[in-house]
Amino acid sequence: MDTVKLGNTGLEVSAMGLGCGGHSRLGLSYGKTDAEAAVVVRRAVELGVTLIDTAEMYGTETAVGLGIASLPRENLTLCTKAAVEWQGRRGTAAELEERLNASLRRLGADVVDVYQLHGVSLDEYAYCREELVPAMLRFREQGKIRFLGITEAFIGDPGHAVLSEAVRDGCWSVMMVGFNLLNPSARSRVLAHTQTKGIGTLDMFAVRRALSRPEALRELAADLVARGQIDAAGLDPEDPLGWLVREGHAASIPEAAYRFCRHEPGIDVVLSGTGSVEHLEQNARSINAGPLSPEAVARLGRIFGRVDSVTGN
Ligand SMILES: NC(=O)c1ccc[n+]([C@@H]2O[C@H](COP(=O)([O-])OP(=O)(O)OC[C@H]3O[C@@H](n4cnc5c(N)ncnc54)[C@H](OP(=O)(O)O)[C@@H]3O)[C@@H](O)[C@H]2O)c1
Repeated sequence: MDTVKLGNTGLEVSAMGLGCGGHSRLGLSYGKTDAEAAVVVRRAVELGVTLIDTAEMYGTETAVGLGIASLPRENLTLCTKAAVEWQGRRGTAAELEERLNASLRRLGADVVDVYQLHGVSLDEYAYCREELVPAMLRFREQGKIRFLGITEAFIGDPGHAVLSEAVRDGCWSVMMVGFNLLNPSARSRVLAHTQTKGIGTLDMFAVRRALSRPEALRELAADLVARGQIDAAGLDPEDPLGWLVREGHAASIPEAAYRFCRHEPGIDVVLSGTGSVEHLEQNARSINAGPLSPEAVARLGRIFGRVDSVTGN
């Protein structure tokens, strides 16, 4: 597995991170048990994955804890998150500490490497800065977390309003950003700034639904054409990205999608979320497979380069 530097954190991590949320939640979403999900975690580590991203909200911290229970910890980077909203209102700093302690117990860990505020919306951002960040700085002094992170609510904020503001603050060591070949708008709005400031980046939504299910891609392309965000000329409405495989650029659309993100300047880690060991193994190969050809990247840019309104969800 290729390794990368996570911004200026000093952490050297795998280029593919295991995403324990998304639609699959390590397979818990389609009936896997914690023990079965833990098998996916262990297989990821065997494949060289050293960064694992989970969250209080996903219900996968216990499976991660089980998966890593007997593994050496020194090479693992554990990331988890807490949402601002808690029990129907904004959670307090004191509650955040209790929630962090509970995450640590579920993970069976003494420290969370990257503790992230989860899916922050624009109207929550000031509360994060004023109430929650001071608490997170205390957790860091206490040795319970190592770095502060923030993740955007990409579905509600596909144009990156929150991270565009957050990059101006100095408190975030790591940001999780939505970026994929269908919506590359983070390139100029987020990644240009994280690169100059040394903020580490975790990429979510590399594949999601639209790039793993042909019917979802057809619907999304039709919607973008109808809204004038992409040009119908030269686009096959039945198979909008089929040319990537037909012309030999990649073996599959998910492979192309992961490779596209992996080689984007400014993306450190590409998260892959799956409950399938087979998909995990394929995705690890994709991440290590090298960049798409410059011609394919340029053609994707001509089709989707202006899109900032969809996520592929
Ligand atoms: N705001 C936030 O903080 C936020 C929001 C969303 C996600 N995240 C994080 O980002 C991570 C990545 O997002 P994501 O989970 O949506 O991941 P993703 O890698 O973009 O997409 C994963 C989806 O694609 C499918 N898939 C994966 N590999 C495949 C393959 N080789 N062939 C066909 N289908 C494949 C998976 O289903 P199978 O299970 O069938 O493989 C899964 O449903 C999450 O797990 C989570 O950790 C954070």
